[in-house]
Amino acid sequence: MKITVIQGPNLNMLGTREQHIYGTMKLEQIHAQMKEVASQNNLEIEFFQTNLEGEIVDKIQECYGEVDGIIINPAAYTHTSIAIRDAIAAVSIPTIEVHISNSYRREEFRQKSLIAPVCASTLIGFGPFGYHLAMIGMLQLFSEIEAMKTENKEVEK
Ligand code: DQA
Repeated sequence: MKITVIQGPNLNMLGTREQHIYGTMKLEQIHAQMKEVASQNNLEIEFFQTNLEGEIVDKIQECYGEVDGIIINPAAYTHTSIAIRDAIAAVSIPTIEVHISNSYRREEFRQKSLIAPVCASTLIGFGPFGYHLAMIGMLQLFSEIEAMKTENKEVEK
């Protein structure tokens, strides 16, 4: 099974950027922890960060037929991007949305996610630990999908 992790704009600045909101952990450290969980569970994992909306759309499209799960923090595009939402809906790969900060406690413009309705789940406000929770959540989704496949095979027999 393969997971692609997509990180949106300014997340490459984690560790430096508004530490009182996002903490001191760098993106590379978060990814190293996710890699650890992946290898403990025999999962392939790849990481992608970009500041450009279209590159996120391209990456999601590239996942089609290649990847079993997507973990995405679309960052500021969460609140604006119909294109990213449509891309996730188009590939229909189980997707978990992560936000480091609790955007519901912040400015009003951060309180709407255009992405959440096309995701299996959204993790908000756990800090960088949210990415770890997303890995655990993805493992759970994978086992539910496997169980459904086995059940369907039984019914077909
Ligand atoms: C964020 C929340 C967004 O509102 C913001 O634009 C980000 C990061 C988060 O992880 O808390 O860049 O997605």
